[in-house]
Amino acid sequence: MIKYKKMCHMKGKIMDKYAETSKRLISFLDTNPSPFHVVAALGKMYEKAGFKRLLEKEKFEVKRGGNYYVTRNNSSIAAFKIPEKDFKGFNITAAHSDSPTFKIKANAEINVEKNFVKLNVEKYGGMLMAPWFDRPLGIAGRVMIKNGEKIEEHLLHIDRDIVMMPNLAIHMNREANEGYKYNAQTDTEPIFAELGSEITLQDIIARELNVSKEAILDTDLFLTNRMKGTIWGADNEFIAAGRLDDLQCVFAGAESLIEAENKENIALHCVFDNEEVGSGTKQGAASTFLKDVLMRVNRALGGDEESYFQAVARSFMVSADNAHSVHPNYTEKADPCNRPMVNKGVVIKYNANQKYTTDAVSGAVFRDICKEAGVPVQTFTNRSDVSGGSTLGNISNAQVSLNAVDIGMAQWAMHSPYESGGVKDTYYLEEAMKKFFETDISAKL
Ligand code: CO
Repeated sequence: MIKYKKMCHMKGKIMDKYAETSKRLISFLDTNPSPFHVVAALGKMYEKAGFKRLLEKEKFEVKRGGNYYVTRNNSSIAAFKIPEKDFKGFNITAAHSDSPTFKIKANAEINVEKNFVKLNVEKYGGMLMAPWFDRPLGIAGRVMIKNGEKIEEHLLHIDRDIVMMPNLAIHMNREANEGYKYNAQTDTEPIFAELGSEITLQDIIARELNVSKEAILDTDLFLTNRMKGTIWGADNEFIAAGRLDDLQCVFAGAESLIEAENKENIALHCVFDNEEVGSGTKQGAASTFLKDVLMRVNRALGGDEESYFQAVARSFMVSADNAHSVHPNYTEKADPCNRPMVNKGVVIKYNANQKYTTDAVSGAVFRDICKEAGVPVQTFTNRSDVSGGSTLGNISNAQVSLNAVDIGMAQWAMHSPYESGGVKDTYYLEEAMKKFFETDISAKL
């Protein structure tokens, strides 16, 4: 009896640290509905932890022992800690701030039968479309406002049930459950208003931001799933929320960086926008953003081109983007030998065609770090007859070429507006990343 109680107590205690981390993640997800909100929130987190903001358009003034962050397009952000002594290399984690959603097009209002107003939207990224239907949706993103001579960028989060994509009733489409092909133009135009209510989207934006309609110059606005994140399961084993891919890795990287103590290397957490649409923007992983930051920091600390190349050769990147768990209803979809599960630790991803950067060298280094951190490790490979996704590591390696490993947390329903994963995994990732930031890679290789 005593033994049983002790076990429950111990189990309760263990679950607490996992649940606590998951709860912090969920609150981050619930309050940051767009990449612009994510980057603003990370900036606040870093500032609270003593990081100073650098601007790309001004000289980088950095000192040994200092902590800094820099943004690009307000949707990508790199934060870093400089050690007190000469740094050897860069220990970099990377994740992405964007997730598949619908973008509201310009002049979006469409009148139907002189009675309804719906919005014209287009897909952003490759999503599961069905789960966007029949749930209240909000709107979030950024709005450019004319203020005197200046054009200002404002965050917008219409945090209420404002649009909906109702399904067509089964009676009007008897084959709905036989498989349905969605038309990205006509099936997904969300209903916004009754005609005659005389409230336009512009009116609502102006009211939310307390500006005149005429001051609104342009917008980047997206639909958001308003269902709050939750911890679920018989023993609260699981979590679910919108945008676990990839904000689970974004958030874990930021918390780990803040906590990590780096003695030999510059520890840096980089969050890129536009991974879901190919990374080819000025702020994406294919851009010069990361390289520019590394070169400028190296130069500001007195380094030259030669010392930059040496530092990159001593550097390592952990490209963190979520992975697929074995799905209990579709077990045959996973590779026969490598079968990642939620709650079973960090997943290292391999692909012979190098969609993932992991090779024997980077895999060995990261496995070793996880072992030192006491974090369980799993392996992901696609079935050989399935071509999987791509991610940040191989793309960013074209600009900054270094040893890199692709990892992620196991999850279900990737690219649904509501994804599920394990309650323990965010904690595991934080432990692994913290250990990574504190590791002198050049002592291992
Ligand atoms: Co992703």
